[in-house]
Amino acid sequence: MCPCTRLARLLLYHTLYFVLFAVQAAQAALDVPWSSNKYGPDGPWQAVKIRVGGNDPALKLDNQNHADIEVYPGGTYDSFTFSSLACTPFADCGKGGTWDPDATAMLWFEGMTGAWHPTIQDKTYGLTAGSLNYTQRAITVAGKTVWNASLSHTNTGNITHLNGKMGGMQLGFLSLGAAETSQTFDTAWEEGTAGQNVTAYLFNGKLYEDKTISSYSYGLHIGSAAFEYPGSLVFGGYNKGHVIGPVTSMFKDFDRIDLLDITIGVKYGSSPFEFASKDNLLISDTGVVGSSQQVRIDPKTPYLSLPDSTCEGLADVLPIKFDQTTRFYHWQVNDPSYKKIVTSPAYLGFVFPPSLGSTQNVTVKVPFALLNLTLDSPIVDKPTQYFPCQSFTPLKGQPYPVPDDYFRLGRVFLQAAFIGQNWVSKTTWMGQAPGPGFGGFGLGNQVIDIKDKDTTIESWDSAEINYFNQTWAGHWSIIDSPKPRTNNTPTAPTESPTREATHEDKSDSLSVGAKAGIGIGAGTVVVIAMGIAFLFWRTRTKRNHENIQGTYAEGPYTKQPYVDDGPGD
Ligand SMILES: *[C@@H]1O[C@H](CO)[C@@H](O)[C@H](O)[C@H]1NC(C)=O
Ligand SMILES: *[C@@H]1O[C@H](CO)[C@@H](O)[C@H](O)[C@H]1NC(C)=O
Ligand SMILES: *[C@@H]1O[C@H](CO)[C@@H](O)[C@H](O)[C@H]1NC(C)=O
Ligand SMILES: *[C@@H]1O[C@H](CO)[C@@H](O)[C@H](O)[C@H]1NC(C)=O
Ligand SMILES: *[C@@H]1O[C@H](CO)[C@@H](O)[C@H](O)[C@H]1NC(C)=O
Ligand SMILES: *[C@@H]1O[C@H](CO)[C@@H](O)[C@H](O)[C@H]1NC(C)=O
Ligand SMILES: *[C@@H]1O[C@H](CO)[C@@H](O)[C@H](O)[C@H]1NC(C)=O
Repeated sequence: MCPCTRLARLLLYHTLYFVLFAVQAAQAALDVPWSSNKYGPDGPWQAVKIRVGGNDPALKLDNQNHADIEVYPGGTYDSFTFSSLACTPFADCGKGGTWDPDATAMLWFEGMTGAWHPTIQDKTYGLTAGSLNYTQRAITVAGKTVWNASLSHTNTGNITHLNGKMGGMQLGFLSLGAAETSQTFDTAWEEGTAGQNVTAYLFNGKLYEDKTISSYSYGLHIGSAAFEYPGSLVFGGYNKGHVIGPVTSMFKDFDRIDLLDITIGVKYGSSPFEFASKDNLLISDTGVVGSSQQVRIDPKTPYLSLPDSTCEGLADVLPIKFDQTTRFYHWQVNDPSYKKIVTSPAYLGFVFPPSLGSTQNVTVKVPFALLNLTLDSPIVDKPTQYFPCQSFTPLKGQPYPVPDDYFRLGRVFLQAAFIGQNWVSKTTWMGQAPGPGFGGFGLGNQVIDIKDKDTTIESWDSAEINYFNQTWAGHWSIIDSPKPRTNNTPTAPTESPTREATHEDKSDSLSVGAKAGIGIGAGTVVVIAMGIAFLFWRTRTKRNHENIQGTYAEGPYTKQPYVDDGPGD
């Protein structure tokens, strides 16, 4: 049954259409509109507004099969959507909207003999979707339409949350581009049948080819739904109002970066902790402190998917506890230090290597205010505050074509970080994003074009004015007079020093001792569960990847030789 022998000729062919001479037409970066809706069940998250559907430029889009949907920006190559059928098994599904393409939209679909049927698997948060059909239909963003855009689509999929509770998919994804500007599908049905090569475009790739935008690039910061702080996604440019320098850049392996360390610090005023700052919080799975880890910055996934030892280490210094039932770290909301920490100028720092030509590490500070996230149905019955560290074991070194996986910094991180990428100059940028500022305006909007071969971007320089501190002013409470006290409970040495002082929370039903006891043993359970989940996933993935020749971000296509320059350059 294995169609492997035919696969060689049934590959997706990616084509490269880099246009060499920019016409001096009005090229302006495309600022993607954000929705004010908030999404869960582990957010709140916010999304961008797009329209999918339509295939006849001569007709009004309104009169063609289409859907106005909200999607998370993220991923490479095809953008992803799903039908209302995918939502029928679930009470809570497709909140960002679904799309039912007309049957003729399918250009590479399930019924094709010999075609491979890729699935999406993301074990960082339990998404499984597919098989996927590929369609060639329009994507419209802020009034700009790209016809024949590459859209994968499915009628089945779901999210198995870490506690085993299953829910429907909520939102699709809008691709951020890829090493190529388009994908080509060979529509041969059977071996020996004369097929047709059909080209489907990546949204920003096509805008770049058409010289609507001046570079094949994007700039992204997802903002904070909780703080009513809209995100920013720009194609062909970036919003400088969302970037505080220094910005680090990556030229090699641009889909991932070395995370050197995780720290805790306090931006201003006194510390809500017993300590003023702490580093060496990135601990490898073998228990090595201070060994850097490769991470992928991934807006498709919600959490910080990191080594188990790192999450456990953070649980030693924060008022969080791993909950066996939900398999999330819950904030101990009745612990007075909880409120103090998540409203203070304290942050979790992510330390990255310096930019080329600089010697200073770049630390992205994620205020604890942004790490006070909410679990909701179907994960839990009533809203529960959680801390988004998740134990993750990336699979590496699997036989072709299973791509290597990496630790991830997901949407939670991108609430406080800016990431941008120029696919042509092969440069990725990352830096600190400002806080919500006045009325959720951050540092204001300043959309700037990224030019074709740009390898640098401008940012707000914090040398004189501390923009990060400035834009968080009013959103956090500065602690003036710390009252450090010794904690006498030996079983919980890292709990807040002020736990017994000024206890004002209403419903503290558990004693300190009981709370400390609950934490014990949780770690063991996680390890076993992870083991089982890991084996299960591994089996599934092997099966699923048998038929895959290359698809989204992690596919082997991303490793194909990349042609940057053409003749005449
Ligand atoms: C879309 O691609 C088809 C081939 O699959 C082609 O016939 C059609 O002209 C293209 N549409 C546009 C608007 O480019
Ligand atoms: C793919 O498209 C075919 C043809 O339209 C349809 O029969 C099938 O149900 C679709 N499959 C999925 C997984 O969406
Ligand atoms: C969940 O999604 C997967 C992948 O599409 C599918 O195989 C499975 O049947 C779905 N399960 C349920 C209960 O819908
Ligand atoms: C499709 O493209 C491939 C790779 O360029 C080529 O080998 C094949 O002949 C093409 N098929 C058709 C029908 O043009
Ligand atoms: C934590 O987040 C929840 C939900 O957004 C919010 O209601 C609560 O006030 C936050 N906690 C603190 C201490 O700010
Ligand atoms: C960068 O961070 C690493 C890890 O914390 C540290 O060992 C190194 O000394 C730092 N480099 C500089 C220049 O601060
Ligand atoms: C940080 O912001 C606070 C207001 O929240 C302000 O009082 C303080 O002067 C600022 N400090 C710096 C270094 O900018």
